[in-house]
Amino acid sequence: MAGFPTILVFDSGLGGLTVLREIVAARPDAHYVYVADDAFFPYGHHGEDAIVARVVPLIGDLIAAHRPDLVVIACNTASTLVMSYLREAYKIPFVGTVPAIKPACAQSRTKRVSVLGTKGTVKREYTRALIRDFAQGCEVTLVGSPELASLAEAALSGHEVGDGEILAELEPCFVGAADDETARTDTIVLACTHYPLLLERLTRLAPWPVDWIDPAPAIARRVVDLIGKPGRQSDKAGAEMIFTSNRPHTLSRALMPFFGGRVPA
Ligand code: DGL
Repeated sequence: MAGFPTILVFDSGLGGLTVLREIVAARPDAHYVYVADDAFFPYGHHGEDAIVARVVPLIGDLIAAHRPDLVVIACNTASTLVMSYLREAYKIPFVGTVPAIKPACAQSRTKRVSVLGTKGTVKREYTRALIRDFAQGCEVTLVGSPELASLAEAALSGHEVGDGEILAELEPCFVGAADDETARTDTIVLACTHYPLLLERLTRLAPWPVDWIDPAPAIARRVVDLIGKPGRQSDKAGAEMIFTSNRPHTLSRALMPFFGGRVPA
């Protein structure tokens, strides 16, 4: 690939920044376009047909406007539905984000794994099939969280979010006897890209310690597999941040760490 590749990273909101951050670390030289479909947020509250009808043409418009070399759908709620439609419709490489059930079940010692995602993601046939195929003898608890993505979004935007609100969404993930570490949940899949934004608070509020599985590093490796490692040139190309609501964004400085220190235009 000559010059800097352009990588378009898409989510319903700010959650995909947790995926972007890992991709930027792996390909610091690339040009990034981050698109938050905030006009349709939260995806977890929409039906399957509505999400397909929204995302497939929108990605087509974004490809036409930005000519990316690769598109990352950094949203489980969308990826568990739209990947085959996108690959059919557009001839560029796509990388999706789906619940990391296989690695979580492979590493659980107590064989109790919880999958924390949006209500949409835990309902999907795609997610159920991952459990059928890869649970490897684990008891998998699906937890559909109605509000955690919005709480993460609010916290990143500088609003006060109470511990009680977060804990209410998190508690159903903790299954088994708190005082028996051999028979309680030991691994939680973060099956929504917004949740790693709250990782410190999730860790602090957890009734007992667990391993949190964030798929972002694996997604970054997949991107590098597809477009290659960075060349010698270490200059950073630019970064853009687009909100589909067209709201003026005042978050540029707060978002810099996700863009590898660049201020997104
Ligand atoms: N970030 C999205 C995901 O990974 C979901 C948030 C939403 O409900 O829009 O599932």
